[in-house]
Amino acid sequence: MEKYLVTSALPYANGRLHIGHVAGAYLPADIFVRFQKLIGNEALYICGTDEHGTPVALKAEAEGTTPQAIVQRYHDSIKASFEGLNFCFDNFSGTSRPQHRELSQKFFLNLYERGYITQHTIKQHFCPVENIFLADRYVEGVCPHCGAAGARGDQCDACGKLIDAITLANPACKLCGAAPEVRETTHWYIDLPKFEPDLRAWLETKSAWKDNVLNFILSWLDQGLKERSITRDISWGVPVPLPDAEGKVLYVWFDAPIGYISSTIEWAEQRGEPDSWKDYWLDPQTKLVHFIGKDNIPFHTIIWPAVLMKQDDDYILPHDVPANEYLNLEGQKISTSRDWAIWVEEYLKYFDGDLLRYVLAVNAPETRDSDFSWSDFQARVNSELANVLGNLANRVFAFAAKFFDSGISRPDQLDAEAQTTLDTATAICNEVRLSYQGYRVRRAVGLIMDIARLGNKYFDETAPWKSVKTEPELAGQTLYVCAELLRIISIVFNPVLPHKMQVLRNMLSMVSAVSWERIHEPCTHYQIQDVEPLFPKIDDAAIEEQTRLLIEQSKVAVERRKAAEEAVREKAAAQACKDELAAQAHKDESAEQTQFKAEIEYDDFARLDLRVVEVLTAERVQKSKKLLRLEVKCGAEQRQVVAGLAKHYTPEQLIGRKVLMLANLKPRKLMGLESQGMILAAEDDSGLAVLLPERDVPDGSSVE
Ligand code: 2FM
Ligand code: ZN
Repeated sequence: MEKYLVTSALPYANGRLHIGHVAGAYLPADIFVRFQKLIGNEALYICGTDEHGTPVALKAEAEGTTPQAIVQRYHDSIKASFEGLNFCFDNFSGTSRPQHRELSQKFFLNLYERGYITQHTIKQHFCPVENIFLADRYVEGVCPHCGAAGARGDQCDACGKLIDAITLANPACKLCGAAPEVRETTHWYIDLPKFEPDLRAWLETKSAWKDNVLNFILSWLDQGLKERSITRDISWGVPVPLPDAEGKVLYVWFDAPIGYISSTIEWAEQRGEPDSWKDYWLDPQTKLVHFIGKDNIPFHTIIWPAVLMKQDDDYILPHDVPANEYLNLEGQKISTSRDWAIWVEEYLKYFDGDLLRYVLAVNAPETRDSDFSWSDFQARVNSELANVLGNLANRVFAFAAKFFDSGISRPDQLDAEAQTTLDTATAICNEVRLSYQGYRVRRAVGLIMDIARLGNKYFDETAPWKSVKTEPELAGQTLYVCAELLRIISIVFNPVLPHKMQVLRNMLSMVSAVSWERIHEPCTHYQIQDVEPLFPKIDDAAIEEQTRLLIEQSKVAVERRKAAEEAVREKAAAQACKDELAAQAHKDESAEQTQFKAEIEYDDFARLDLRVVEVLTAERVQKSKKLLRLEVKCGAEQRQVVAGLAKHYTPEQLIGRKVLMLANLKPRKLMGLESQGMILAAEDDSGLAVLLPERDVPDGSSVE
């Protein structure tokens, strides 16, 4: 007997579960676990919510509540969604529980004490508006590798490369659009280069892993492993367990996979055998299989194994990491911000959980992205489940009720066609088994439907409605063979359709526990009971309604998003304006109060006759503290000017200088003296300063 420990990537507790999640990291795992149990292996299925990280903290702040309240809400919602889809987790925990925090700190300290953690003070973007460091995807800019715009601070979706945020061109805060400042901060790093030889040696033993996973790992190793920061400057998370680490928490990606272990420990405690988690994590016989989406590959195949390698217990390392590609929706990428998604919670209000399991399994994104559409959902349910498998069950059960009082017995002898049909089915089952074992769920499902098709063909060809009148035992044989096929299907399809196959087994009055071995144990008598349509058809109106709802919900979200983006832009513009004003005020405090005279036309200016004049003589005006009497030369002319310069200049300071004068101002009398012009001067707090031509120009020159 083999022993499996199976995990699905812990879903973030900051949103609901959608069908894209289910198709990638969850349904394939649930099917795998059910299959292992079916063939008699031991399998423990562990999951829980990933509850730390900035999004939770920000959501809590936006809603004026606590991160714990946000986490609880989504934990409950996600768990209910899985239950509605008939998942069989052995434990579903959460990473904000105390024992998870303790274990994560212990993992950190083990690495730290063994010299696998370094500390660096680095430059990081800081948003002065939001008052937070912009780690990971909270800063966006132009990718330094491929030049794509909209690259996040941690990774570029266009080229898939990891990014050091500080190298982004034109960085902008994702939350408010402002240009971030660069500030210094201290973080702790896992020293991945030190692990490289061990990792390489270990990964060399993994040549059977899926191609998409191996390719990803190779490209990482080829780029050379780099130190990776495993701490962040936020308050929601596992505190860094070091003395001078106030305000620092472990990066959510460091603590999340430790959740696989803490959830197993919780499982062990709940069953009253607190040490039994060790039978899995510390037993080299255990096969640890991590089901994930492709975006999680580096963390599960490089960083997480590295962390596990250097603990004080001998943890097992991943046996396999079957990563799936993405599921699209109606030909477009699933997007939570555009609400282009089918939320499991919503789906379950209308349809049965197993139907979704079937459609996602038959269309699983195993080797490339696949697509879900409502019309395909309807077609698969109606023309595959209902018309093929449901039809086989219906016609057999209806016929048995009509002619055999719902009893179907094994004939003393089976003819060749009957035997071949059953042999073909068991041969297909062997293929199904290999497919399940190799994570090829699509193929497994296709093969099982072939068994149902085989049953319908056999039913049609043997035409029991004809033979029942003349040779009822032949008609009975047809029913028996078809009932046997249904029984086999109810076993091998159990991993995909656990609820529906339970219903089918009940109709067939199969009471014993379901197991793969029983495929080969023919039943001698069936008493058909509790018959109900296994797969009622879905009508067009229901599908049209779902399509309408999807389009509607997305429209609302896009509008909302536009408004939010607009608000961010406005906030950024307002901030930029504020910044500019502040800078200006800093430069020239008086600038803000500058008041100009009313606007004039050029012609108004042109009417002023401004001239350069030379001061020939200067003297104080008697009885005046302010006035000086000047004789100035303006070309051929000489004029008397009375100027209010006595407080700022001595006569001597002015004699011989060339200054500017308004020459066509109407003469006026000051202290009895006629002033025939006005000397131009600038004024500030310390007084007046006469204006001088910048180089020597002849007096009389005009000023333009
Ligand atoms: O990508 C995600 O949804 C992450 N929450 C997965 C974490 S997997 C594991 F490490 F817990
Ligand atoms: Zn890029």
